[in-house]
Amino acid sequence: TIQLTRTAEELHALPRTGRRAVVMTMGALHEGHATLVRAARELVGGDGQVVVTVFVNPLQFGAGEDLDRYPRTLDADVEIAREAGADAVFAPSVDEVYPGGEPQVRVSAGPMGERLEGAFRPGHFDGVLTVVAKLLHLTAPDVALFGQKDAQQLALIGRMARDLNFPVEIVGVPTVREADGLALSSRNRYLSAADRTTALELSRALLAAHNVVELGPAAVRHAAHVVLHEAAGMTPPADLDYLALVDPSDFTEVADDHTGPAVLAVAAKVGTTRLIDNVPLEFE
Ligand code: PAJ
Repeated sequence: TIQLTRTAEELHALPRTGRRAVVMTMGALHEGHATLVRAARELVGGDGQVVVTVFVNPLQFGAGEDLDRYPRTLDADVEIAREAGADAVFAPSVDEVYPGGEPQVRVSAGPMGERLEGAFRPGHFDGVLTVVAKLLHLTAPDVALFGQKDAQQLALIGRMARDLNFPVEIVGVPTVREADGLALSSRNRYLSAADRTTALELSRALLAAHNVVELGPAAVRHAAHVVLHEAAGMTPPADLDYLALVDPSDFTEVADDHTGPAVLAVAAKVGTTRLIDNVPLEFE
């Protein structure tokens, strides 16, 4: 059975046995989240503890973003968390997390938080890191797992843990995709059938790029742009925010003679939905 806790007090009353892993989510759980929970269980073993947090964090949504329409499906979320092997769900209210209203003191994501996603969503990563810091303090895990799907978020959380000496291990989990390549996302449920057909071009662009990785960074960028150019002519179009080939340690663009790891990241609006995806690459 699984424990549903709504307050810090209830959370702190949970018995603590073995190592504790936490998987943080905004709910509307899907197979991507379930994969993180299974990986968490794998990491801490049978006598460890897996806690899933479900909290739609207002601080990380900008004006005009989808905070109000973000899907809220707590009963289904608890069931998915239980099936994937979680021991407890922590689903606090906004008042429980921000009792005095918006916090005055926040975590600053720094320069890495201003690139790519940060450039299109000002303040987003400060909001993410602030709530992740709070949820790490509240849940006090030994290990916390995050998806590669949100590559810049994962890199920033790792950076925060290192720069600010959080006593936690940050673990990344590869992106879970539909059979046709579409990266799973809670926002996919906003997509109409036509939207979804266009959305598929994002993962197709990344795959086309991945297939020419041995030709180097310029060929990788070109291969992705060819597919995204086609997608811009579809109905509805994929309206590109950015395509960037970046160094995973700081999210700056890599040079054409770059060797070693890189991340090809894409963001686009399809209909009324904004989607992101990425693929990790290795240049020889
Ligand atoms: P959310 O979008 O709900 O994602 C929760 C976690 O699931 C994140 O670590 C995300 O990277 C991971 N995830 C989502 N889709 C995935 C997929 N297709 N494959 C693998 N992992 C996937 O990210 C957030 O919530 C929030 O910003 C949060 C960290 C909870 C802070 O509010």
